[in-house]
Amino acid sequence: MSEIHSVSSIPGGGVGEGQLILGIESSCDETGVALVRRDGAGVPRLLAHALHSQIDMHQAYGGVVPELASRDHIRRVVPLARQVLRDAGCTLQAVDVVAYTRGPGLAGALLVGAGVACALGTALDRPLLGVHHLEGHLLSPFLSTDPPEFPFVALLVSGGHTQLMRVNGVGDYELLGETVDDAAGEAFDKSAKLMGLPYPGGPHLSRLAQTGNPGAFELPRPMLHSGNLDFSFAGLKTAVRTHLVRQGWLDREDLLLSDEARPVLADLAASTQAAIVEVLVKKTLAALKQTGLKRVVVAGGVGANQALRAQLDEACRRRGIRVHYPELHLCTDNGAMIALAAAMRLQAGKAELTREPVFDVRPRWDLSAI
Ligand code: KG4
Ligand code: ZN
Repeated sequence: MSEIHSVSSIPGGGVGEGQLILGIESSCDETGVALVRRDGAGVPRLLAHALHSQIDMHQAYGGVVPELASRDHIRRVVPLARQVLRDAGCTLQAVDVVAYTRGPGLAGALLVGAGVACALGTALDRPLLGVHHLEGHLLSPFLSTDPPEFPFVALLVSGGHTQLMRVNGVGDYELLGETVDDAAGEAFDKSAKLMGLPYPGGPHLSRLAQTGNPGAFELPRPMLHSGNLDFSFAGLKTAVRTHLVRQGWLDREDLLLSDEARPVLADLAASTQAAIVEVLVKKTLAALKQTGLKRVVVAGGVGANQALRAQLDEACRRRGIRVHYPELHLCTDNGAMIALAAAMRLQAGKAELTREPVFDVRPRWDLSAI
């Protein structure tokens, strides 16, 4: 199926006993569906997952267009569900629980996943479980070959959120600090857009940064010494904009094609990334110090950033702190983390299952409130 960009399955994974959970993610610009089985001991195992990214569609607009996102989720979700069932060698009737992203995210996009989940739950007479998207990110390293142990500090860095949490166990999340304005992913995306890079800017900016000098531009590190664990990234894009205006390069679409501009842009990209990464690493170390914990989990799309990984790994290695990441392909949005979070909630006895086909999504939803 050509429109499915990435599909993976674990050979033979469909065979076996245990509760089968179908997970549906549709909170933003990725449609993800996955099957996770809790084995006899309750340990969750990913059987198959499939993902369709809408990036190509939104790129023409320089950002996510919510209405287009919802319509595309409608087109993709059922074919993706068929695909994972086929890959896992399971029938739809074998599904025991239907989990879906209840929030936070785009209301229309969330409603698509919730609507399909409700329809499946009703048709199959199976319970539903609404999952918090950030809980999915937070628990996604449990699908890696090096899963963490509770308790740990979590650095959640996505396109819409930047938070430090103390994670005591499944469903026991204490907010330590968060951004007061833009999220780290937003800082990457907005700065990249100013530089003429395609959407989503994070991965493009970090690629361009590889050839640049991170010390070339002096950019602000807001709230670095604020004495708390909050972040602020809004000033960064303003500083990037000021440098571009100074060069006469703002709103120049052909900027990256220019031999004159490209190396300077690479320096600006490297300096921007260095500013974001330094703040994230220092605040994470401060959170570890404050809590006395020796373990940290990095989750969300920005967790795929190699500079962040390298600097955090190095700083933590020197302090005897273990760092855990999700598998690289599970850093950004996916259905596997939703099915996994549902499985872990069931295992912990903290799953609020419902048989009511309620279209109850929460576009704004505080993780520490669940
Ligand atoms: O978690 P995610 O897939 O979606 C949300 O829940 O927001 O995160 C998407 C964000 C975007 O801002 C994207 O630019 C950023 O993650 N991102 C990166 C990288 N890969 C994705 N930022 C920096 N470096 C990367 N390699
Ligand atoms: Zn996300």
